[in-house]
Amino acid sequence: MPDLSGRIALVTGGTRGIGLATVRALAEAGATVVLTGRDEAKAKDVASAVTGTVSGLALDVTDAKAVAALVRGVAKEHGRLDIVIANAGIMEDALLGMIREELVDTTLATNVAGTIHTVQAAARAMMRKKSGSIVVLASIVGEHGSAGQTVYAASKAAVANIALSAAKELGRSGIRVNAVAPGIIETALTEGLSEDAVTANVGRTPLGRLGKSEDVAKAILFLVSDDASFITGQVLGIDGGLTL
Ligand SMILES: NC(=O)c1ccc[n+]([C@@H]2O[C@H](COP(=O)([O-])OP(=O)(O)OC[C@H]3O[C@@H](n4cnc5c(N)ncnc54)[C@H](OP(=O)(O)O)[C@@H]3O)[C@@H](O)[C@H]2O)c1
Repeated sequence: MPDLSGRIALVTGGTRGIGLATVRALAEAGATVVLTGRDEAKAKDVASAVTGTVSGLALDVTDAKAVAALVRGVAKEHGRLDIVIANAGIMEDALLGMIREELVDTTLATNVAGTIHTVQAAARAMMRKKSGSIVVLASIVGEHGSAGQTVYAASKAAVANIALSAAKELGRSGIRVNAVAPGIIETALTEGLSEDAVTANVGRTPLGRLGKSEDVAKAILFLVSDDASFITGQVLGIDGGLTL
């Protein structure tokens, strides 16, 4: 396990699933972690249940001003900001003919604009020390597509490209930006999958199982650690080989 003592980390959407597993992994590695969720009481409750130095704040990533203010506030309070995980995201399936305008707006506002707001605010905070590491949450469907997930897949393709473009722009400032592209991970986001869909996907996965939040958290932990100090602009698949 890398030693992240003295590092300050922020995880958006850290109240459950992959975000919460990442909060736990970062805290276990010694980082001071701030997690966010849309409900303040819930964010604080979740944070207080994690072992380590963890606090919870309210944040809706669709609100650019709120993201900027929160990131600025965290960096000011702790004197630095080393690690930001732009994890907050939503997924709702709809076949092409059933896509409502509201679904397009909400998905793009949360997954795409929310990630841009977070990366932008993180870059501003990290620029002062000319160091930092950012990880964004893409998805295998962003690269490979998925029937019934046109909106979500488009949003995640954009998220992967945010990492590539930001990595090119921020490298000279000592800031690394990478994406992880999970396959099917067992969280609230995927609990609606039918038994048939689960069986079919496990059958197509060389490693023969669905992913766990901890599988993704461990990869994120590596990417933000000094062990990955020459890695930037990568989209790391974490899918048990499903896309092979
Ligand atoms: N699970 C998978 O199979 C999978 C695969 C590929 C990629 N991903 C991506 O991984 C990320 C985490 O997924 P997950 O499965 O852990 O999802 P999840 O269990 O549904 O958790 C999503 C998190 O995002 C937060 N959130 C949602 N909308 C938000 C908003 N507008 N502002 C701030 N926070 C918001 C939620 O917090 P509150 O509800 O407390 O506000 C929650 O903490 C997402 O970006 C997802 O697209 C997941």
